[in-house]
Amino acid sequence: MDQDSFAETLEELYEGAACGYLSTLPDGTIVRANRTFLTWIGMERKDLLGGRRFQDFLNIGGKIFYDTHFAPLLRMQGSVNEIAFDLTCSNGRQLPVLANTVQKLDATGRPMVHRITLFNATDRRKYERELLLARQKAEQVSGELKELNETLEERVAEEVAERMRAEEGLRQAQKMEAVGQLTGGIAHDFNNLLTIIMGNIELMQRRLPDGNERLQRAADQAMEATRRAATLTHRLLAFSRRQPLDPKPIDANKLVAGMSELLRRTLGETVALETVLAGGLWRTQADPNQLENAIINLAVNARDAMPDGGNLTIETANARLDEAYVAALAEPVPPGQYVLVAVSDTGTGMDRATMGKVFEPFFTTKEVGKGTGLGLSQVYGFVRQSNGHVRIYSELGEGTTIKIYLPRLIGSDEEPAGMFAKNPMLMKGTGETVLVVEDEPDVLAYTVESLRELGYRVLEAADGKAAIALVEQHPEIQLLFTDVVLAGGMNGRALADEAARRRPGLPVLYTTGYTHNAIVHHGRLAPGTHLIGKPFTYAELSAKVRRMLDGE
Ligand SMILES: Nc1ncnc2c1ncn2[C@@H]1O[C@H](COP(=O)(O)OP(=O)(O)OP(=O)(O)O)[C@@H](O)[C@H]1O
Ligand SMILES: [Mg+2]
Repeated sequence: MDQDSFAETLEELYEGAACGYLSTLPDGTIVRANRTFLTWIGMERKDLLGGRRFQDFLNIGGKIFYDTHFAPLLRMQGSVNEIAFDLTCSNGRQLPVLANTVQKLDATGRPMVHRITLFNATDRRKYERELLLARQKAEQVSGELKELNETLEERVAEEVAERMRAEEGLRQAQKMEAVGQLTGGIAHDFNNLLTIIMGNIELMQRRLPDGNERLQRAADQAMEATRRAATLTHRLLAFSRRQPLDPKPIDANKLVAGMSELLRRTLGETVALETVLAGGLWRTQADPNQLENAIINLAVNARDAMPDGGNLTIETANARLDEAYVAALAEPVPPGQYVLVAVSDTGTGMDRATMGKVFEPFFTTKEVGKGTGLGLSQVYGFVRQSNGHVRIYSELGEGTTIKIYLPRLIGSDEEPAGMFAKNPMLMKGTGETVLVVEDEPDVLAYTVESLRELGYRVLEAADGKAAIALVEQHPEIQLLFTDVVLAGGMNGRALADEAARRRPGLPVLYTTGYTHNAIVHHGRLAPGTHLIGKPFTYAELSAKVRRMLDGE
């Protein structure tokens, strides 16, 4: 083949090149263009050269870039390379191009013409986009990995804390069991001894010769001391769950109502008594005398905790303890339906260390001669012997609620317990974010865990200040779930107010160990606020949170 068969004219090289050529005046007006360019943008040469400027073919972003960067750079450097533009073709399509430009000067050194070479960058743009996507994906995956790593540590820490709590609970339960067996054994022997002592003193009293007052008095004193010893022994037996009980069907409402006169006298003038009795209360089965005894013990403790007066609230309610709730307890409590009797006061409250010990026999903070430390031991023993459950809530300086759960009695005329579904329909979350604020670590852990299991995203805080910081950082929070009484200066209500200032309309669900009536009547919460009482079960929590989020 000879050289001539390849011969191409310069014009053909220019017009048919694999890139677009443009010559423009310094203001961008196009004065020359090759065929390739005309084909790309779909225009006739005569239309293009009628005063159109290069920048007229750019989109808004391109026009701005042309004015602010491209043109000044070109003036400064004389050439600009690899500038990415999108050309708007006449059919509306955007064509990605890379522009290399040189500036040609006239004899006096003034800019005369711009020569622009345009490369079709469609493929290159595609790679770039793919590259970008790949990088974003890689970053996301590595972010997820990092998060997984971080939460892994957190989860391990949580798991360890959970185990330690469980172990602590178990130790406590074992201690109570051991002390119970010991005291029970001693009390049992003592009872027998006291029976003999009492019998013999009585015998002596009957046989004492008339007129010997000194001996008479001695015998009476011995008898009185023996009676006190018998009472003590009885309380010990009660704690060790070995007192003889006489369980009968009980309407707790009637029982409480019947005690109000006695209670008022016990409490004195400075303590206001309020009873709130639930309608449709289930019956329970227990020894009525011992239940009265327990309520009096609680009332006396409450009175002692309110030396300057206050409010005592006794409430009854139907309650359900579900599997998740009882699983978290150290002592074995069967799940199911219970009758709740709750006694709340507005007294001194107690710290956590005290709370951990109050059920132990002989634990008292009262001065010698004032308390034996057997009141709550007796309550505990009686309730456990009756297959029930006691729970104590207290806040230092605020007050105390003690809740007694006794098993529901199912009579022949009532629906059997089995008709209540064991696992009620749980109302799950769909990733909504809930902020939980709670100062008691074990309650916090239980709540957070339950909510996570239900499918919520959970943020947690131990006091009001930390909670507010989270509210500010996380606009995605959809529900504030807070304890009414919090450590660290800001209570739940103040927290809700602060939160509302930052996030108007943010729904707030309160929780507290106090009963609903006690908390509302004692002025800590306004009526109509949303409250879920502690202890709450998994099912109750799921239903309440769902309803709040659904705005019901
Ligand atoms: N409502 C309450 N408020 C504050 N502290 C309480 C309350 N109830 C009990 N306590 C604390 O628990 C301790 C033990 O109570 P418990 O009833 O077992 O014994 P006590 O009242 O001291 O003596 P006893 O009841 O035998 O006369 C009390 O000394 C007190 O410190
Ligand atoms: Mg007491």
